[in-house]
Amino acid sequence: MSAHIIDGKQLSHTLRRDYAQRVNRLTQQGLRPGLAVVLVGQHPASQVYVKNKVLACEEIGMHSLLLKFEADMSQAQLLQEIDRLNHDTSIHGILVQLPLPAQIDPQAVIQAISPQKDVDGFHLESAGALMCGAPSFWPCTPHGCLQMLDAIGFELGGKHAVVVGRSNIVGKPMALMLLQRNATVTICHSHTRDLKAQTLQADVLVAAVGMRHLIQADMVKPGAVVLDVGMNRDEMGKLCGDVDFDAVKEVASYITPVPGGVGPMTITMLLANTLDAAQAALTNPNSRV
Ligand code: GUN
Repeated sequence: MSAHIIDGKQLSHTLRRDYAQRVNRLTQQGLRPGLAVVLVGQHPASQVYVKNKVLACEEIGMHSLLLKFEADMSQAQLLQEIDRLNHDTSIHGILVQLPLPAQIDPQAVIQAISPQKDVDGFHLESAGALMCGAPSFWPCTPHGCLQMLDAIGFELGGKHAVVVGRSNIVGKPMALMLLQRNATVTICHSHTRDLKAQTLQADVLVAAVGMRHLIQADMVKPGAVVLDVGMNRDEMGKLCGDVDFDAVKEVASYITPVPGGVGPMTITMLLANTLDAAQAALTNPNSRV
């Protein structure tokens, strides 16, 4: 039997309707939530991503600020912009789109963002809090994956989750979130021996590598839930994930499509984090930089 499709677009639509009401309530209380999106250079995919993030803010009535800079901008200039945004009381979340041009150290930029406005959840303070199970902003893509598991009522306790990919943005935080929900977690990466032997153990399989069709049907345990974080292009330029969707959907119980799966949920979690940041600023105005 073919797997159920977890529709990230539909789930996002439902969640964002609720967020629009939260924006409205906060605005009525005198604080309109605001997100600053910073783009350096003209990376084609990044341009699309930032445009979608700004549009998503507008759709729910959130204030957004899109700052675009030339690719030859210096690190010092960017840090100055971040400092300005840290002190801007109309901005509650700051997102610097990655990758950055080679002359700019992404870690220096991420660490310059006030942890109170770190809606990407990339700051060391946010990462440390996630690791220790303390409240913090969670990175949006893995958080979106977790929301999808919640949406299908999947109970993670005692299950085996296999995460393929160990990036700071997806793989590592995903593993920590699954661990926090009492799953047994395996992280696989480019040095893993016999990937198939690992993925076949998975009750939940998260593919976050960036390799088209890395996950084939014979690598998936029948009935597993498969979440595809990949964003690749095939030879025709069509968007596709890390999972061979057509074949794997005949083995899995649930599967996310690409596009329309994890992608929209990433932006939805960015909105959620920005709302939480704005709520915190309203509750505790002195906590801000
Ligand atoms: N580039 C690719 N994904 C992301 C993301 O989630 N946040 C930022 N800031 N840049 C990215």
